[in-house]
Amino acid sequence: MTDLLRFDGRVAIVTGAGGGLGRAYALLLAARGASVVVNDLGGSMHGEGAATTAADRVVDEIRAAGGAAVADYHSVEDGARIVQSALDAFGRLDIVINNAGILRDVSFHKMSAEDWDKIYRVHLYGGYQVTRAAWPILREQGYGRIVMTSSAAGLYGNFGQANYSSAKLALLGLAQTLAVEGQKRNVLVNTIAPLAGSRLTETILPPELVAALRPEYVAPLVAYLCHESSGETGHTFEVGAGWVARVRWQRGRGAFFPLTGELTPEAIAARWAEIDNFDDPTYPTTPTDSFAPVVANLQGSATAAEPPPAKPTPRPAAPRLAADLGPRDAIGYEFPPVTTSYDEKAVSLYALAVGAAANALDPAELPFVYELSGDGFRALPTFAVTFPFALLWQITAVPGLRFNPALLLHGEQALQLRRPLPTKATVTHRAHIADIYDKGSAALVLLDVHSYDESGAELATNRSSLFIRGLGGFGGERGPSAAAFALPQRPPDATRAQTTTDNQALLYRLASGDGNPLHADPAFAAAGGFTRPILHGLCTFAFAGRAVLRDFAGNDPARIAGIKARFARHVFPGETIITEMWREQKEEDGVARVLFQSKVAERDEVVLSNGVVDLIG
Ligand code: NAI
Repeated sequence: MTDLLRFDGRVAIVTGAGGGLGRAYALLLAARGASVVVNDLGGSMHGEGAATTAADRVVDEIRAAGGAAVADYHSVEDGARIVQSALDAFGRLDIVINNAGILRDVSFHKMSAEDWDKIYRVHLYGGYQVTRAAWPILREQGYGRIVMTSSAAGLYGNFGQANYSSAKLALLGLAQTLAVEGQKRNVLVNTIAPLAGSRLTETILPPELVAALRPEYVAPLVAYLCHESSGETGHTFEVGAGWVARVRWQRGRGAFFPLTGELTPEAIAARWAEIDNFDDPTYPTTPTDSFAPVVANLQGSATAAEPPPAKPTPRPAAPRLAADLGPRDAIGYEFPPVTTSYDEKAVSLYALAVGAAANALDPAELPFVYELSGDGFRALPTFAVTFPFALLWQITAVPGLRFNPALLLHGEQALQLRRPLPTKATVTHRAHIADIYDKGSAALVLLDVHSYDESGAELATNRSSLFIRGLGGFGGERGPSAAAFALPQRPPDATRAQTTTDNQALLYRLASGDGNPLHADPAFAAAGGFTRPILHGLCTFAFAGRAVLRDFAGNDPARIAGIKARFARHVFPGETIITEMWREQKEEDGVARVLFQSKVAERDEVVLSNGVVDLIG
């Protein structure tokens, strides 16, 4: 059983506590040990006049029951004076319940400027004034509980209440930001939308209902939110007559449009059913959540050849509601196949973007960038790691995987090549979620993408290991350990230094089709904690691949069966990548291995670890 929640030593301001809901809050808090400032202007329900009687009566009630209370008759528009009353009477302040309110209901076309202003002054400006005066006290003492009073009219709209509903929803906006700003200082802010019988509702509700909707049914939630044991903040509750429920925003999956073409009103109209669909909703709680699909679209749009399908085809027999699904349910999920095409130009551009033929006087890499090369034009093997970009963005639409793309980290990449890549092809990519491990705070998602040429023959398989922070703890298997393997003790058999250019990341995003602004936009990079845009991990991967290809395979892509590595750190464009390589003994199946790691010379940090290239011949 929960201990009795007491408020001994705490000081609370309850505005508009001379009647209705405020009175019930004041009585309950005082009965449980709080010292209460009973504030009430004592005017009419339309905001006219003033009197001391309302507040005095409640103070008398509290004192008669043995509690501590003082009356305050200021309007909430003079918030600082109310806060001063608390300090004068009790020497401190812990709790602020913004409750005072009036009504001036009239349909919008008849609403006067005075109707609008009076409502705003009492509800929003009054709530602001009291809270503003209390804020430094609560922050500095590292403790505070604030409740804002919104209304169903604010959340949902109500005829004749344009002034009231907009002011009430503004209070919710105020509370949401104060919750964010106050959290570190243990100043917690929540909002209620109550329903109770009072003089505000007696003109619109039948008398039996007014009597039944006792304010005492609302007060316990408010008291709980104001108690030191409550960690709630930034939440909204509907409450009345013995019913309490949290309310939150829900958002549909929405429709993604490719950003490569023109977005027209007709395109919006054509996909209205998706825009208006709530079958598999998300519940954003922060602006970052809100922006996530936008960022995902920026990242994915450059390669989405076709408008993304309306909804990924779920695996057959998904018996539960999408909202009930978790990461475990996503295992085995198959993405809708995506077909893309590339040509010689794309292959050359990619090679240039990963540093090939940077030295024009060195002809060794000319065959990767010049389609008429006498040595035979060819594609770099790592060109195939760009294939998954065509559908990677869809991962946020997988039922059971609900996450913010900003929290996704690319852990490892493993590419297997079935044969040398054609220099021009139409390729169909089929992806599925091979497994998901529970790494505690993160989920490790293994995404396999198989790419097939026009004849149906497989060209390449990519396995991307993706850490999704915040998605762990779902009770899944931990999976294999992530230890880095030991490199040979001897000095590397080959070491290659490759300098990246200042615009390497910009080139790579164009050539790879991953338009992630992290690699282009300084502001976006700063938001991610980087001093400037960083190189794509798969660009670094390709530099290392070129080093092995040149030093151990004579620049012949046919000799590369696979390449994999782990992304340890980022590289800034302009830095020098040093790849150290060790050739391992030939194994019986005819596949030799080159182990490698890449460092960045300027910071002497390993950027790629666990590197392995499987060689043929
Ligand atoms: P009420 O009229 O019984 O209580 C409001 C109190 O605020 C009154 O005692 C009034 O004198 C006082 N007040 C008004 N202007 C003031 C000012 N400028 N400075 C100081 N005090 C002032 O109404 P009720 O129903 O108890 O309302 C409390 C709060 O709950 C209000 O903010 C109201 O908008 C809100 N609310 C109430 C609902 C209900 O079903 N009763 C529904 C949704 C919201």
